[in-house]
Amino acid sequence: MSVEKPQPVQHLADYRPWPFTLSQTRLDVTLAPRDTVVLTELDLEPSDQPVDLVLDGGAGLRLQSLRIDGLTVDPAHVLRDDETLTIRAAALPRVPFTLATDVRIDPQDNTAFEGLYLSGGIFCTQCEAEGFRHITFYPDRPDVMTTFRVTLRSDLPVLLSNGNPVRAQDGVAEWNDPWPKPAYLFALVAGDLVAVSDSFTTRSGRAVDLNVWVRPGDQDRAGFAMESLIASMRWDEDVYGREYDLDVFNIVAVDDFNMGAMENKGLNIFNSKLVLASPDTATDGDYERIEAVIAHEYFHNWTGNRITCRDWFQLCLKEGLTVFRDQQFTSDLRSAAVKRIEDVQTLRARQFREDQGPLAHPPRPDRYEEINNFYTATVYEKGAEVIGMLKRLVGDDGYARALDLYFDRHDGDAATIEDWLKVFEDATGRDLAQFKRWYTDAGTPVLTLQETWQDGTLTLHFTQQTPPTPGQPDKPARVIPIAVGLIGPNGDEVAPTRVLEMTEDRQSFSFEGLGARPVASVLRGCSAPVMLQRQMDDATRAFLLAHDTDPFARWEAGRELALSALTQLARGADAGDDYITAIGALAGDADADPAFRALCLNLPGEEEIATRLATTGTTPDPDAIQQARAGLARRIAMAHQDLLAELYDTMTVPGAYSPDADAAARRSLRIAALGLLGRIDGGDRAEVLFGIAGNMTERMAALAVLLRLGRGDSALRMLHDEFADNRLVMDKWFGIQVMAAPPSDAVAVAERLAARPDFDWKNPNRFRALLGGLAANHAGFHAADGSGYAFTADWLMRMDAVNPQIAARMSTAFETWPRYDAARRDHARNALERIASLAGLSRNTREMVSRMIA
Ligand code: ARG
Ligand code: ZN
Repeated sequence: MSVEKPQPVQHLADYRPWPFTLSQTRLDVTLAPRDTVVLTELDLEPSDQPVDLVLDGGAGLRLQSLRIDGLTVDPAHVLRDDETLTIRAAALPRVPFTLATDVRIDPQDNTAFEGLYLSGGIFCTQCEAEGFRHITFYPDRPDVMTTFRVTLRSDLPVLLSNGNPVRAQDGVAEWNDPWPKPAYLFALVAGDLVAVSDSFTTRSGRAVDLNVWVRPGDQDRAGFAMESLIASMRWDEDVYGREYDLDVFNIVAVDDFNMGAMENKGLNIFNSKLVLASPDTATDGDYERIEAVIAHEYFHNWTGNRITCRDWFQLCLKEGLTVFRDQQFTSDLRSAAVKRIEDVQTLRARQFREDQGPLAHPPRPDRYEEINNFYTATVYEKGAEVIGMLKRLVGDDGYARALDLYFDRHDGDAATIEDWLKVFEDATGRDLAQFKRWYTDAGTPVLTLQETWQDGTLTLHFTQQTPPTPGQPDKPARVIPIAVGLIGPNGDEVAPTRVLEMTEDRQSFSFEGLGARPVASVLRGCSAPVMLQRQMDDATRAFLLAHDTDPFARWEAGRELALSALTQLARGADAGDDYITAIGALAGDADADPAFRALCLNLPGEEEIATRLATTGTTPDPDAIQQARAGLARRIAMAHQDLLAELYDTMTVPGAYSPDADAAARRSLRIAALGLLGRIDGGDRAEVLFGIAGNMTERMAALAVLLRLGRGDSALRMLHDEFADNRLVMDKWFGIQVMAAPPSDAVAVAERLAARPDFDWKNPNRFRALLGGLAANHAGFHAADGSGYAFTADWLMRMDAVNPQIAARMSTAFETWPRYDAARRDHARNALERIASLAGLSRNTREMVSRMIA
């Protein structure tokens, strides 16, 4: 028998079940910054055939002893390489046995924040996807599920792990998790922490203690997270019939965290920016995001933990569904229309962008080198869109039946996308073979529409075509649900929304018996994640913006009008008058939701304009785009000066700050007006507002205006004086300076900030603030001289040696490089090749860079 070497490329087709059974895991951990002792006992049962026992665990684990049923394993039967520990079959009993290991690790030296690490004196863990193997030797794969019993030893006052507490005294805490789980859901926390506490009684009467653990002094900023948790628990009972299943639910906020948050069973660990909020430190956007992510992680208890993934190729099984659920939650608590528009904006900005470049991959990929590189907008956001389409196709009742069946049939399982689709087929009788392509095929389908009108019949002729993506040259037709309504010439709706099901490459649908030719409102609610190409004049778009009854389609009409103007302006043509007129009417429509008006007033970003140009065959010029956008904003401000000033003066919110949807909506319209007025008032309003505003939403909006005008210095100084010791506010302070810098200054500003002693670059939030801020400054990052690329490459290389996940993730700043002009492409390619040639480059960054220059 040979020892299997880990393959550099993992393939879905190679999946094999693990050939042992693991019935319990016992851990005993004595915490210390160096030489943490990890004692592990695994109760194992061999399968019928004698096979080697291969455990994950790399060179970083110092193995002190290895015993089977108390006896040391003969070293001649043990093999180690960089990633695994193998015990030869010859050394294994043919009956159930206990394997015990004694391993030592150094959390203090763990700068990659994967496994067990220290964050500001707090011991914590991050095990998804493959972090547990940095703690001990283990079958670190999601289909190996077992109960965990954990003993923690430390002088620190708070010692937490998964499940229910068994006992805690004299520096020893024991935890028991009765729900079988894979190792990626394991967590421990030890630190000097304080809790904001509450309780929740589930509908079957289980009393649950709730705690949000933060550092002493942060309690007054943890209340909103707790409210959000309680709202999430109630919502999941009401809407999905899902109850919580332990006696305690703990949330811990830590400052150093690679991602947003993590759904460890009964012990969610969060990036502190997604827990801590107060009106003077957090924006409305932050509050909305905290509420959504608290919900997301909580919802994982059923969609992720009780039902997990068989292997990491199935990641979207839990992530797509859980994003879909948190989106539903936010639309129920806030405005459904506004939430849908926000989600589609994110989808387009992040997922369509990914799908159009060298990093395109299907929601369920079938190969990867480093799974951490696949926590992407495609897996999460497109994964959620695919579920939205399923629901649209089978209807609300069909969806509810399918979900009940999913929970019934698969509770306790490590499941697959095939299992997921099968419950929909069984619950609704529908064949989903063609639908499955949404999971297996990459790329954003382009839907084109042509219309004919004859004898009272309007016919919509659609074609679908998906451009090639890496490894997938040909794309068969998909099932596309196209929601359509018709608006009559007088502005009344003459046909309510109906979902057309397109299954062929070309297909036509007719609406008969119409008196006069209506305007079709197509892809209502963004009923499928496709790009719609349709010949429509600006007057018709303005008509839909004024009359469409579907809020998404109405917003979309305004968006198309803006993009039509902006792309013409960026090509040097004259355009925009229709948009300016139409947008004024909408902004002044007192019957419309202020948040909706704000969304319509915000011009598409430079990145979105670049994408539109690229997909319609024009090489985007970042400087021309920036000028076109600034110029159009100025014209809007000039044309609607009085209206905008009135909105700015009246859309205030009386009384104490509240992050609720109505108050946030008024503020969003007010700051949309402020941003436009800043184009013509020299920034005077922003200067005043920054000084007097009692909330961070308005202060950040004002600061952005001032920075764009090059007059932000005193505001920056004020903010710094007030919040120098608040890491989250200082992250904003770093980020906005780069993001809102005039493009020609952006790289210089980034360089200056990077040289500051408080640029604590090993902290992921701080690094992301600066590098992400530059990437978000489109014309700054894509500076013609390549300086933005070079600066970013230098920092990615530096970060890669310390924290490969963060370096790899931030490398996506480059993912659109092939669409720019030859000079920029040369600079970008040089930067990427410089990274690729770095000695010792991590697998994470190597995979990303090689896909981008393939
Ligand atoms: N499962 C987490 C969430 O979506 C994300 C954790 C990802 N972590 C990572 N290192 N890739 O809520
Ligand atoms: Zn998730």
